[in-house]
Amino acid sequence: MTDYRTLAGQAEGMLEAEPWYVAAFSNLSALIMETLPGLNWAGFYLARDGRLVVGPFQGKPACIHIAPGKGVCGTAAARNETVVVPDVHQFPGHIACDGASESEIVIPVREGDRVRAVLDIDSPVRDRFSPADREGLEALVRMMEERLRWD
Ligand code: SME
Repeated sequence: MTDYRTLAGQAEGMLEAEPWYVAAFSNLSALIMETLPGLNWAGFYLARDGRLVVGPFQGKPACIHIAPGKGVCGTAAARNETVVVPDVHQFPGHIACDGASESEIVIPVREGDRVRAVLDIDSPVRDRFSPADREGLEALVRMMEERLRWD
């Protein structure tokens, strides 16, 4: 079980050192990849010009653009809510960037009410993300939202 309290403390230290989203997302994706066992991709897609564009991440090269409402990422961004997918093969419209992915969680990152990015985490393990993972990761994102600088 991941110690999300420790993870949030480390993430907070990074954001205090540099809140600019490019630097923060780069190290946060590396921190998540290092800390959570059983992942194959962790990173951010950025809302830009009406669609999502790949941002800082760890893992295999990924699809660059995601159209509004498409895939798990586009769905989470359009609904402005977390989407947990226990089995990506059962999610209509799932975009397979890494064929190893079996389960996925996507959490919107907001500035005020506006979705500015999504945190996307993939696992080669089916049903990898428990309610406790969702809670810990959502708390992590809420902490990030209070500290990020977008310009
Ligand atoms: N699977 C995502 C696409 C991004 S990759 O997982 C890195 C989706 O369906 O939106």
